[in-house]
Amino acid sequence: QRMNIFAPEALCEGGKLPRVPIFMPTLAGGYMPAPLAEPGVSFFSPNEKNSLFRALEHGYVVACPALRGRIRPYGKAPACIVDYKAAVRFLRHFSDLLPGDTEKIVTSGTSAGGALSALMGATGNHGDYEEFLSQIGAFEERDDVFAASCYCPITNLDNADMAYEWQFSQIYEYDSWKMSFENGKPVHTPVHGAMPENRIKASKELSQLFPEYVNSLDLRGESSLVLDQYGNGSFKDHIKHLVLKSAQAEMASGRPFERPAWLSENDIDFLEYAKAVTRMKSAPAFDDLALSSPENNLFGTEDLHARHFTSYSHDSSESGGELADSLSVRLLNPMGFIGDPGATCAKHWRIRHGTADRDTSLAISAILDLKLRSSGASVDYHLPWNVPHSGDYDLEELFSWIDVACQ
Ligand code: DHB
Repeated sequence: QRMNIFAPEALCEGGKLPRVPIFMPTLAGGYMPAPLAEPGVSFFSPNEKNSLFRALEHGYVVACPALRGRIRPYGKAPACIVDYKAAVRFLRHFSDLLPGDTEKIVTSGTSAGGALSALMGATGNHGDYEEFLSQIGAFEERDDVFAASCYCPITNLDNADMAYEWQFSQIYEYDSWKMSFENGKPVHTPVHGAMPENRIKASKELSQLFPEYVNSLDLRGESSLVLDQYGNGSFKDHIKHLVLKSAQAEMASGRPFERPAWLSENDIDFLEYAKAVTRMKSAPAFDDLALSSPENNLFGTEDLHARHFTSYSHDSSESGGELADSLSVRLLNPMGFIGDPGATCAKHWRIRHGTADRDTSLAISAILDLKLRSSGASVDYHLPWNVPHSGDYDLEELFSWIDVACQ
């Protein structure tokens, strides 16, 4: 229950509290405990300043809370999002004493952090979180935010396995890495693997379940976005179009562009695209049959290291794993709150998901974008060309977007 708050020195002259936007990033990764971060070097590129530093330079107040994470018995779902909300309530409670405009709070994060930012944007003030907030002594204040910035959000976890197998269907080899420590420094060793028979079976079954999920969402672009039983249709065309638009934007940028074989003038070969991106995770990608994923750990309990969170993996469990309670799963998924009149949704959203990302399917961020738009939110959604799973690579643009939204 700690938070760092910074204000630009120049704005504090005369003892006045600057009423500028509050940039509220989380450096949570992997659903691990989020550090009590400070302005410093970037996690993504150690030669650059981090988002806190850059946001301060830009003139924002920066508030960065520590958050509980999955490796602690007390850090299981929904602890991470409860802490983020409690921090917003704290800022509101002491807004007369603290710098920054609490009506202009902008959350931001990458991957698990992007998912948390999406949750902050989608679930403002919703009563389902109340018992957990009061358990930790959070103030009785609003916890909605003005805007949410989400880089490659690892979100919609209970549907992400199907989306992953839809995107990487027919690809049964994966390229991952193992982390170990040498002299206290993390070392990543590449791991190449072939999926065993039972995982290939899971892949096929999960990808076949995806159309039913997509079709249940009533997604609309210019027309209705759906999939047939083979996973083809207007929703797939929509994803292909997003990738194509990314390529076109890159070509128009003037940067050197090497056309990949899967890209033609007006189309992409989706299977060849997925092959080129490469599969990172065996199936199921998130709710692992052996309970060994970070997400299984997130949905554990004080006493249980890990649980399942989808009926598919629970039914096919290799480890007799228990199924997480439906409330914990619901509280970690923004999708169930978008359009719920009990939730105050952020008005402004910025979502980025690189075309080279393999940690989760592009369908996940696309579905989030479509649902938000249909609920009336303003969404700036783009797939940056050839960008892998990462964030904070375009902070100047992010800050310009915040400035426009705040005007
Ligand atoms: C993160 C990445 C993952 O692939 C995942 O499953 C969960 C979290 C992350 O980088 O935060």
